[in-house]
Amino acid sequence: MDKQKAQEQINALKEVLNQYSYEYYVVDKPTVPDAEYDVKLAELQKLETEYPELVTADSPTQRVGGALLGGFEKVRHNVPMLSLSNAFNETDLRDFARRAENVLGDHISYVCELKIDGLAVSLTYEEGKFVRGATRGDGTVGEDITVNLRTIRSIPLTLKEKETLEVRGEVFMPKASFDSLNKKREENEEELFANPRNAAAGSLRQLDPKIAASRNLDVFLYAVGEWKNSDLTTHSARLDTLKSLGLKTNPLWKKCTTIEEVLDYVNHWTTERPNLPYEIDGIVIKIDDLNQQEELGYTAKSPRWSIAYKFPAEEAMTKLTDIELSVGRTGVVTPTGILEPVRIAGSTVGRASLHNEDLIREQDIRIGDFVVVKKAGDIIPKVVRSIHEKRTGDEVEFHMPEKCPACGADLVRLEEEVALRCINPNCPAQLMEGFIHFVSRNAMNIDGLGEKVVMQLFNAELIHTMADLYRLEKEELLELERMGEKSVTNLLNAIEASKQNSLEKLIFGLGIRFIGEKAARILAEEFGTMEKLQEANYEELVTIDEIGEKMADSIVQYFSEEKVSKLLNELSELGINMEYTGPKRAAQSADSIFADKTVVLTGKMESLNRNEAKEKIESLGGKVTGSVSKNTDIVIAGEAAGSKYDKAVKLGITVWNEEELIEALKD
Ligand code: IVH
Repeated sequence: MDKQKAQEQINALKEVLNQYSYEYYVVDKPTVPDAEYDVKLAELQKLETEYPELVTADSPTQRVGGALLGGFEKVRHNVPMLSLSNAFNETDLRDFARRAENVLGDHISYVCELKIDGLAVSLTYEEGKFVRGATRGDGTVGEDITVNLRTIRSIPLTLKEKETLEVRGEVFMPKASFDSLNKKREENEEELFANPRNAAAGSLRQLDPKIAASRNLDVFLYAVGEWKNSDLTTHSARLDTLKSLGLKTNPLWKKCTTIEEVLDYVNHWTTERPNLPYEIDGIVIKIDDLNQQEELGYTAKSPRWSIAYKFPAEEAMTKLTDIELSVGRTGVVTPTGILEPVRIAGSTVGRASLHNEDLIREQDIRIGDFVVVKKAGDIIPKVVRSIHEKRTGDEVEFHMPEKCPACGADLVRLEEEVALRCINPNCPAQLMEGFIHFVSRNAMNIDGLGEKVVMQLFNAELIHTMADLYRLEKEELLELERMGEKSVTNLLNAIEASKQNSLEKLIFGLGIRFIGEKAARILAEEFGTMEKLQEANYEELVTIDEIGEKMADSIVQYFSEEKVSKLLNELSELGINMEYTGPKRAAQSADSIFADKTVVLTGKMESLNRNEAKEKIESLGGKVTGSVSKNTDIVIAGEAAGSKYDKAVKLGITVWNEEELIEALKD
């Protein structure tokens, strides 16, 4: 075939493939079987292999490109990407309408749209070609994530007309894709995503577009940034035109002419929300007429012509089928509700916290009850109350046992505590939790020793004390199920490496009551060696800033136990470092970029773990805290950064990505 013929065929194939994609991904009405698409794509691929000079960026074969090496470039938005002010109830919505009417009179049309819970993006098309895609970033500067956005099949690489415009929307992960992604991650023992939004954000932050391509992301476009040649005068006309250009808009928007109609729409979707195949977190209301929009104008952060109604924290009702008891590291016995699986705020929930027996009594929660479950902080579900009206009479009252469910020892209620505790120091459940804590990231950080492996080691009686971990032999590990040569070698290397940890990790790992990570570091810095800490008395301890009476008591009590000195001797003989090797506080550089800065870490980092990042920042004089507030100076957002990132952007706080952090640490 000559080149001209090939070009003609390539053009024809591209056109038909784009049309198939549009039907399948944008309007959800495929006209041909999937196999037909695959055959045509293969034909195109074959021609492009023969004539590589005819491959263009908008070819359907070019959705997945090569990985980025240097991270994402920054992109300045020509028109800032603003956020919206929020409404939480009917009054807020009526106030919004009243303010608009005060300026515009009462001839106002509103467009109500679903507020998609994903990640805001900006897509730029030049003469109909998709040339750039960016994140919102801080609203002024975002990141160029074109390579990842190209992998989303519902984002057309070519529009149906040669328009030049910048259009905005939300990339999201459908609920079903999120479920299967997390299921796969669970099977591979990978960390799970908390909700579809985090999963979508995490996928778009990947430097390798192959990952984004595998994640089944989707998009809805809902706003225009810049569109110079458009003479449209309403938002609703824009939505229609975007759709006819081949851009995917959400079909469930509605034009309303009164605030009553708006409230009906809000109420309708508040109830129908669980039946949608994607997550929404509210309703966006926009004034339809673009001239009226201009007349109302903007505040510094958001338009006055639009408002976002936010749904209250999602609750769901389901049946409490059982109550399970678990024994924590410190012996506290906690009841967990087993539920008929129910979907709440982005994931399926089958277990929820019941706190303690008092709550069960106060609320009279019984096994078999219908209960209301809510996600606290949108992550950990908890049972809020039971619905007594739905009782059939078969419900069973629950009583906390008198004996530990793991070891059978008596449970006690310590003074001033609501919780019941097993105080048997040899309780297997506590020991196991203790091991899990000892090897965890923030403690001895032994990679490859997750909960499951610890359980295997414990059940095979290979570990009785922490010291036994350092006596594990290759042969005995190879006998365990699912432990191959490679994983055993990796595990032994990780165990060996943990011997060099600085003292604070060991102190924290021991699991002394009331001694968290921060206290462990203070103690390590203050005493320098385990030996000195072991010898410290109560008076010495309480004089240390940030070490309170309860902590001091607990430390003295812990080190007075004979089995503790025995364990520490053994660990020392096995070569575990017993000294503080971190930076001295006094040695902190005053002119470090982190000096006196409050830093929040969020999301997952590729090249260093959160704890390492924290240690480094602290060693340079920074303070690392857990939540973003107006006092935060820098937020470092790794992969799958979620609400903390959003909050930082909202508050206008400097946000760095991992590469920027690494650069700063180098400096
Ligand atoms: S309009 C200037 N419409 O919600 C107005 N936003 O809280 C631009 N969002 O940053 C936004 N669905 O990420 C608009 N149908 C929708 C939306 C929507 C989700 C997100 C978007 C925005 C945030 C505002």
